[in-house]
Amino acid sequence: MIEDLQELEDKAIAELQEAQTEDQILSIRTKYLGRKGLLTGLLRNISQVPDAQKPLFGKRCNEVKELLSARIEEKLLYQFQQKKEDALIKEKIDVTLPGRAVKYGRIHPVVQVNMEICSILASYGFSVVEGPEVELDYYNFEALNIPKDHPARDMQDTFYIEEGIVLRTHTSPVQVRVMEKIKPPVRILSPGKVYRRDSDISHTPMFHQIEGLLVEERVTFGDLKGILTAFLKKVFGDDTKLRFRPSFFPFTEPSAEVDIICVMCKGKGCRVCSHSGWLEILGAGMVDPEVFKFVDYDYEKYNGFAFGLGLERIAMLKYGISDIRLFFENDNRFLKQF
Ligand code: PHE
Repeated sequence: MIEDLQELEDKAIAELQEAQTEDQILSIRTKYLGRKGLLTGLLRNISQVPDAQKPLFGKRCNEVKELLSARIEEKLLYQFQQKKEDALIKEKIDVTLPGRAVKYGRIHPVVQVNMEICSILASYGFSVVEGPEVELDYYNFEALNIPKDHPARDMQDTFYIEEGIVLRTHTSPVQVRVMEKIKPPVRILSPGKVYRRDSDISHTPMFHQIEGLLVEERVTFGDLKGILTAFLKKVFGDDTKLRFRPSFFPFTEPSAEVDIICVMCKGKGCRVCSHSGWLEILGAGMVDPEVFKFVDYDYEKYNGFAFGLGLERIAMLKYGISDIRLFFENDNRFLKQF
């Protein structure tokens, strides 16, 4: 039995030397020292050892057990450290490598044009006011002198939320909301999203407008012309020519549409201006006294003008963009250019 013990020790040590992985070492531990292991098995058979040899056998058993345990622990520790070192070598970070380039966001062209227009008009004393995009029929139409069944409602294909509630089709309802709250003098600007059921190369169901409103005593059409001329020259350049064309809006009288000389062909006629030499840029007019009646303004005492323009249209002409849908596709290659 004592020889068996020696043989077992030699075998275990030899196997341990061969072992490479943690799993292999652990399975050697189980094989020899586990509850059903070989050394435990020998100990269990101590009754077969002659009495005289029993103390020696027991002592050797313990020695072998301690020796194997110690060797196994040692090897496990070594294995663990080896693994750590390997990992450190493999995962070494080269701190001299250049970092990843940070990509900067840019301001969307529509937002840029909005900021530019607002800051120009702010210098004439206009301040920015916002209104809701989900709007009452009353503000979007009724109080702007567009009663139900008025043909002007067909000019704007409206998204209805429910009876009496729409997605605003223009920023003009903000005029009414402001005039309900404050008395003249009024000089406000209202930029924001508007919605119309329309979609093609020059129309998207959502786009942006800026509304301007000025109400004071003795305001004339000449004031309107003066401010819009100065403003459009700042946006499109000093040599920009404009023309005011008679037009119709239910909430202004008289009304005009303002054209600028074509930014592409300078008036010669090209595809962009449909060979007219002119580009329509905004709608404007003197506030109709009917609108003043809705907000309890004294229409004998006050008058004013209003104008509205589409931001995408301005951005398209300023930057030479041919398809309005590009603004809303979020293609980085497009947005990066501004
Ligand atoms: N609200 C008009 C439109 O969307 C534009 C406009 C605003 C016209 C103010 C006159 C005065 O077409």
